[in-house]
Amino acid sequence: MTRIMIVDDEVAIRKALERFLTGLKYDVFTAKDGEEATKILSTETIDLALVDLVMPKLDGIELIRKMKKEQPSVVSIVLTGFGTITSAVEAMKAGAYHYLTKPFELDDIASLIATALEHSQLKEENRLLKKQLREKYHFENIIGSSDEMANVFDLIEKVSESDSTVLITGESGTGKELVARAIHYNSPRKDKPLITVNCGAIPEELLESELFGHIKGSFTGAVATRMGKFDAADQGSIFLDEIGDMSPKLQVKVLRVLQEQRFDPVGSTNTHQVNVRIIAATNQDLDRSVKERTFREDLYYRLNVIPIHVPPLRDRGGDIPLLIHHFIDRSCNTANKCVQDINKETMDVLCSYAWPGNVRELENMMERLAVLKSGSVISLEDLPPKVVEGSVGDVFSASSSGGQGDLDIPDAGMSFKKAVDDFESQLIIGALKKTGGNKNKAATLLKLNRTTLVEKIKKKKLEAEV
Ligand SMILES: Nc1ncnc2c1ncn2[C@@H]1O[C@H](COP(=O)(O)OP(=O)(O)OP(=O)(O)O)[C@@H](O)[C@H]1O
Ligand SMILES: [Mg+2]
Repeated sequence: MTRIMIVDDEVAIRKALERFLTGLKYDVFTAKDGEEATKILSTETIDLALVDLVMPKLDGIELIRKMKKEQPSVVSIVLTGFGTITSAVEAMKAGAYHYLTKPFELDDIASLIATALEHSQLKEENRLLKKQLREKYHFENIIGSSDEMANVFDLIEKVSESDSTVLITGESGTGKELVARAIHYNSPRKDKPLITVNCGAIPEELLESELFGHIKGSFTGAVATRMGKFDAADQGSIFLDEIGDMSPKLQVKVLRVLQEQRFDPVGSTNTHQVNVRIIAATNQDLDRSVKERTFREDLYYRLNVIPIHVPPLRDRGGDIPLLIHHFIDRSCNTANKCVQDINKETMDVLCSYAWPGNVRELENMMERLAVLKSGSVISLEDLPPKVVEGSVGDVFSASSSGGQGDLDIPDAGMSFKKAVDDFESQLIIGALKKTGGNKNKAATLLKLNRTTLVEKIKKKKLEAEV
């Protein structure tokens, strides 16, 4: 039952409203001023409050402000005695939903209450939906619902709390930078800077002064003293991207920061002390670089306190439809270039393509399609030939024409996992069709355990095919 509180110092109004609203099957509470109202609010859950503005002790505006702060879900409607628009406006600013001037018709108040409640219910539903969405994807801009990404989200959450050094690994375009940002912006340092340095893009001599700063005259061209990125990141985080490209000399300096949080700017012996969290990323296999002695072992172990590996897109094919819809939605929101949809056949091909450039490649393709196909549905002929040729379906057709063991692996590579998965599904569907959907017989036909088969059917969501 909806619970309404009437706050008015005039007994007659309180009584009249109480009788009227009880008759409408509302649960009614009454208070003669803001103070009494506050007491009620401390023990009861109230959905809506009718609040007189001028009252002794705590007045209407103050009460509304208080409710807005302490119990924002209460909808308030203001009753103004003298029709003073200014105080009504003030009440709206304080968070009231609407106002009525006295004297009012009871019917008006009934319909205003109904609309206000409907409005607040909608708002609440929206809030819940948004919350669910946030919880589902967790880090709003990192899309993924595969087990592999759930694992990454889990790690992000765990490491965000701490100051531990994190090493993010993964192929190019898998989303390493997004992960680094998510870690910083979910950490206690989120209100302090996150400074990104791409160690692979800057020549060694410049990188040193970029990271640690330099003093005037320390080298040709150092016309003024300059602060480094480690100084800029003090109290916050620094993201050292492509750390595998860093020269051994700089590796030593970074190791010192990791161990002591200290460094000397170029040309200076005036040691700087900082408090910086280091997040590093690389698409190289640092294990191998250590063996090949291009990367310092001690630095590797220091960096690799908490490793986060972002798997390539081909190993989490289930995320592809989600990402495709995300990029379509995003282009619709920003550029006025909105594709209507994508047909199933095309989606299937995109799902079985190997995506050597990972999410970045998919993102670029979707951006291009949004421009080219604005207003229409994306179909197979819109895709670049290499994508259509590289899809797993094609490998299978090559196999049936070319015979066993004669698979044509596309130049762009392909997902082994997805291909095996698809082949399994085809076998199961084939067996089920042959046995008229009889799982026992299908299991015998495939020389599988019945339980194994049933599990696979469930996991692959093949029930509909039976
Ligand atoms: N899970 C994801 N959800 C949404 N967008 C993503 C996701 N992963 C990557 N992207 C997008 O793909 C692009 C590449 O991601 P990012 O720059 O983080 O990759 P990277 O691993 O750092 O690549 P590189 O090694 O080439 O620097 C970005 O535009 C990013 O927004
Ligand atoms: Mg990157």
